[in-house]
Amino acid sequence: MIRSVVRGTGAALPRRIMKNADFEGMVETSDEWIAQRTGIRQRHIAGDDETTASLGEAAARAALANAGLTPADIDLIVLATSTPNNTFPATAVEIQNRLGMHHGFAFDMQAVCSGFVYAVATADLYIRGGLAKRVLVIGSETFSRILDWSDRSTCVLFGDGAGAMILEAGEGAGAIADRGVLAASLRSDGIHKDKLFVDGGPSTTGTVGQLRMEGREVFKHAVGMITDVIEATFSQAGISADDLDWFVPHQANKRIIDASAKKLGIAEQKVVVTVDLHGNTSAASVPLALAVAVADGRIKKGDLVLLEAMGGGFTWGAVLVRW
Ligand code: UT7
Repeated sequence: MIRSVVRGTGAALPRRIMKNADFEGMVETSDEWIAQRTGIRQRHIAGDDETTASLGEAAARAALANAGLTPADIDLIVLATSTPNNTFPATAVEIQNRLGMHHGFAFDMQAVCSGFVYAVATADLYIRGGLAKRVLVIGSETFSRILDWSDRSTCVLFGDGAGAMILEAGEGAGAIADRGVLAASLRSDGIHKDKLFVDGGPSTTGTVGQLRMEGREVFKHAVGMITDVIEATFSQAGISADDLDWFVPHQANKRIIDASAKKLGIAEQKVVVTVDLHGNTSAASVPLALAVAVADGRIKKGDLVLLEAMGGGFTWGAVLVRW
């Protein structure tokens, strides 16, 4: 059977780093509160010349270099983002043009923080359905542009960045030992749409709007939703937490990551954590964490890796990949 095998990863971060202490003069907060409640110590913030498209392009070029490929080898770009450069065209098409790629096709996916997990599951279906052979899956965000910088309950949590992964059609035996995407489980429930949203849009206010979140409400649902969708993925693949080599969760809050890993019985040393360095970068958080763990040699060929995310909508999902 056809399997979607990981060929390379890459990442890109804005030049400017903003530490927790940098917020202390802006809103009533402290390094101690942010670090204790979220695990975040710093985040990268895009400069005027840095956009979702430019960061996505840089992450894509890094993934291509890591894979030993060029844009000519790619036939589909799926960009997960909630902060596109423009309402349309899709920022994926802009990245396609920036890469000098004038063949194949490209589109954006919008599932907020779960966007990259949705995009990997989607790319896998395009590959297995025969519509694409090599897919560049990107998560790129500039959440700094939609933050209310006077709201301490949200502005300290988010950061900007991009991560990319290349999936390539390969042969598998249909077994758990195969390399590639092995299982995926996606969920959404719009009953929660007002708990984490942007208060503007082209069809309502005609403005871009700003991010609004009932953090405590999101927190309350997060661990249960994450563990449910991971257990569904485990049973689809016929594995248990002990079989995993790495757990790469969405990086929103260290307390959510720890509680989810504990509930699932995933050992602490198998969990990849980058929330301290990047903050919550929404759809970019999982591919940024993946790129870090690949670059430092933790994730290696043959490892069983679980990706997970949960965010606005709510949307949530998990993907199991043999590296
Ligand atoms: O990526 C999509 C998914 N998003 C998430 O997963 C986010 C989920 N939620 C969270 O991570 C947490 O709920 C937060 C980090 C947002 C908040 O942590 P919390 O422990 O749930 O705090 P809280 O909202 O219950 O607030 C506790 C107190 C409040 O004061 P009172 O009402 O107890 O007097 C807040 O006003 O902390 C206050 N507070 C702050 N204090 C200092 C809220 N933000 C800040 C701040 N600095 N930045």
